[in-house]
Amino acid sequence: MRHALSVASECAPLIKTGGLADVVGALPGALAAEGWALRTLLPGYPSVLRAVGAGKTVWKDKNLFGGPAKLIVAEAAGLDFLILDAPHLYDRTGSIYLDDGGQDYADNPERFAALSWVAAYLAANGIGDWIPEALHLHDWQAALTPWYIKEMGARAGTLLTIHNVAFHGIAPAARLNALRLPANGFTSDGFEFWGQINMLKAGIVAADKISTVSPTYARELTTPEFGMGLEGVIDGRQADLCGILNGIDLEAWNPATDTAITTHYHTPRGKKKAKARLEKEFGLPAADGPLCIVVSRLTEQKGLDLLLDALPALVDRGGRLALLGSGDRALETAWLRAADAHPFVSVRIGYDEDLSHRMFAGADAVLVPSRFEPCGLTQLYGLRYGTVPVVALTGGLADTVIPANTAAMRDGVATGLQFHPVTARALANSLMDLRAIYADAPQWSRIQRNGMKHPVGWDVSARAYAELYDSLSTPA
Ligand code: ADP
Ligand code: GLC
Repeated sequence: MRHALSVASECAPLIKTGGLADVVGALPGALAAEGWALRTLLPGYPSVLRAVGAGKTVWKDKNLFGGPAKLIVAEAAGLDFLILDAPHLYDRTGSIYLDDGGQDYADNPERFAALSWVAAYLAANGIGDWIPEALHLHDWQAALTPWYIKEMGARAGTLLTIHNVAFHGIAPAARLNALRLPANGFTSDGFEFWGQINMLKAGIVAADKISTVSPTYARELTTPEFGMGLEGVIDGRQADLCGILNGIDLEAWNPATDTAITTHYHTPRGKKKAKARLEKEFGLPAADGPLCIVVSRLTEQKGLDLLLDALPALVDRGGRLALLGSGDRALETAWLRAADAHPFVSVRIGYDEDLSHRMFAGADAVLVPSRFEPCGLTQLYGLRYGTVPVVALTGGLADTVIPANTAAMRDGVATGLQFHPVTARALANSLMDLRAIYADAPQWSRIQRNGMKHPVGWDVSARAYAELYDSLSTPA
């Protein structure tokens, strides 16, 4: 086996706020099959330290970005971890990124610069006889690593995966020294961005290779509409950029064995009981239209304000909606109001993994109206559970769903519905199409069955990552 280090701010099942955690948690298993052994470097948030238990301390520092730190080797959930225990950085009462008031921690740049610095230290020094040949860096939280590697004179190759270009990791220029960054990097072809330090840009300019989580998003990233100001820099790295689709955990998400559901099924027909149970759980009346779900962070990205505007197209025609999500206060309130106003809409504000499984098992369709979506996982769960995805034509949603257009319907290959442009009106039209297809039982079950057969695992993507790691570890 060859050795790689994966560096991220979250990893399922230990700590998760979104799909990043699922992907970071799945990569070691997927890459093992390709001959690469991954260790995952993760911040020692209180819940992570509790989950990994005692572990073995392999490195200590009296002053890592302002306080004492140690590195713990531990195994948990079948994964090999290196946990960075630094209480001054990670022992907080809020969420992993936000304080109790919902604001970014002021020292987020230092919190994750420290993680990146330790990643570079590991690339330079290893632990005992373990030394990583390749470093897989996820998002801005790991993106300073290539700069520290350069400073330390280490040789490991780096791959930066952009899971979401909306988050940059911005710090004032005055923090240059505090972040241990070289002053000569503070230029427009370095990590300077409108007079500030941009940590994601730092990784984009300096990593050996760059990937993102779908081929379509890889192209979108080079355009002003999607690049969030980094499109030019990303375009400059075109030759080293590729899109590799996320997979899902086929054991955790398997309708025939899922431990979070009570009635298992192999074919769409078996969903019936799960559907009745879901209607009951959400207090939704039975009706002749499709039972739709949303499982999502409630943020601008996810387009759920568009769904609020398009709701009549669904609920005035016998459709129903069960939504599980949390995030922006204003969106949470708007959705609770919508549930009060429509008997066919039911909303749970919060985060609940088990409930999400019951929702995919029992629903007819899952709605993903994102304004942008680097890959997206819920449409993949939908496919696997015979829960037809209705998605915006963007990013990974475009790459994973075969839309029910005339040609695909004629050939019998459609797996879901897609709408474009990403507006409330186009979404409403799509919801009306959904209703019509749902009313045609043979057509509907064909789409469901196609989806259930569609490959959504890691095989192909793991091979693509392994090839990238290979290219990093054999310097040209
Ligand atoms: P993103 O990472 O942008 O949030 P993804 O679709 O890639 O989007 O991943 C979201 C992940 O988080 C999925 O596994 C989804 O099921 C899960 N998720 C999101 N919100 C909730 C929630 N409220 N309860 C349970 N799971 C959720
Ligand atoms: C980001 C993206 C999402 C993607 C996930 C995992 O959170 O918003 O589309 O699936 O990362 O790569």
